[in-house]
Amino acid sequence: MKNILITGGAGFIGSHVVRLFVNKYPEYRIINLDALTYAGNLANLKDIEDKPNYTFIKADICDFEKMCALMQEYDIDGVLHLAAESHVDRSIKDPFTFARTNVMGTLSLLQAARQYWNGNWDGKRFYHISTDEVYGALELDNPEGDAPYGSEFFLETTKYNPHSPYSASKASSDHFVRAYHDTYGMPTVVTNCSNNYGPYQFPEKLIPLFINNIRQGKPLPVYGKGENVRDWLYVVDHARAIDIIFHQGKIGDTYNIGGFNEWKNIDIVKVVIRTVDRLLGNPEGTSEKLITYVTDRAGHDLRYAIDSTKLKNELGWEPSLQFEEGIELTVRWYLENQEWMDNITSGEYEKYYQEMYKDR
Ligand code: NAD
Ligand code: DAU
Repeated sequence: MKNILITGGAGFIGSHVVRLFVNKYPEYRIINLDALTYAGNLANLKDIEDKPNYTFIKADICDFEKMCALMQEYDIDGVLHLAAESHVDRSIKDPFTFARTNVMGTLSLLQAARQYWNGNWDGKRFYHISTDEVYGALELDNPEGDAPYGSEFFLETTKYNPHSPYSASKASSDHFVRAYHDTYGMPTVVTNCSNNYGPYQFPEKLIPLFINNIRQGKPLPVYGKGENVRDWLYVVDHARAIDIIFHQGKIGDTYNIGGFNEWKNIDIVKVVIRTVDRLLGNPEGTSEKLITYVTDRAGHDLRYAIDSTKLKNELGWEPSLQFEEGIELTVRWYLENQEWMDNITSGEYEKYYQEMYKDR
């Protein structure tokens, strides 16, 4: 029996990781710890909430005493740490919350694990899930050609160079995790993944926001000229990579996760428009008129592109889905689960969104 603590399991990626572990490892006890912030939603886990190997605990990772008590109560062997503030635009408006959760919260969890494991590292693991944004931004030196849009990629050895309060807070948390390995010998592993898409993503992020706006005939706010490049991975493939790395990744090591799938924002917006229009039975191009260019994001990173060759060569992971399949599944899921979306976007959240983006 292994007792695994997954933090942030009620969020987007965390819910896919919880689902995979609960279903694939009935012999493990999965403890999902989540503060249920605006981004946490237990509706993401309806299908597994009654499984005998699953427990949910509402708690804040910054509550150090509580983290210590839970490590002991559940005799935790492994931690998969996903809880975080994750949205760049929010970090620009409210950086303190990002430092609190992402830096202090990670430190609180590390210290609780260290105290509980007390130097007995056998069979223990602390896995920190991070982002490619810590590496900064890449050049767009092939802007008119096809992807890849530049000659450089992020490698595990790329120097950290975060630009937003979000990526600065994630970079800091990554450094703390490595410091716990180097200083105390804690068996840690860190992964840095590119942009995820798929079911259950909170609709402040590009793809679910735009699917929902198209459905409702609302404007699609493209930042700047829509020329920024992101590298997209289907969330279930990220969860598969996390499973492999948690079990087989080298202690103290770092792995990049990505699907070599670069898109300019404006091109991805057009793919989403075409897919939604087709599935709703609208004539092709109907929703293109909704594209609205708005003021750019401050410090908007130009291009992210992950090189995940190390993960492929060392642990044999590759994405299981082509992007065309992933986006089709994603759009279908949001259209078929409008109640999930409406529960989030109706009422208070709509007011918040308008206030948050009023300057654009
Ligand atoms: P999300 O915002 O959807 O979910 C975050 C979850 O953490 C929520 O359930 C929230 O309630 C919980 N949480 C927040 N603060 C907490 C606290 N103080 N204590 C306990 N729980 C708290 O985020 P996501 O997109 O699923 O990202 C998960 C992780 O993966 C993050 O660490 C993020 O940095 C990283 N990541 C995300 C992406 C992406 O494209 N979304 C890509 C690479 C890495
Ligand atoms: O790269 C990994 C990161 O990907 C994760 O670490 C973050 O948690 C996750 O939020 C995501 O960050 P991005 O800022 O890239 O994701 P977002 O969906 O906010 O934006 C994707 C791109 O689309 C980005 O270039 C900004 C642009 N955008 C976004 C929104 C919400 C728009 O043009 N309009 C929008 O309304």
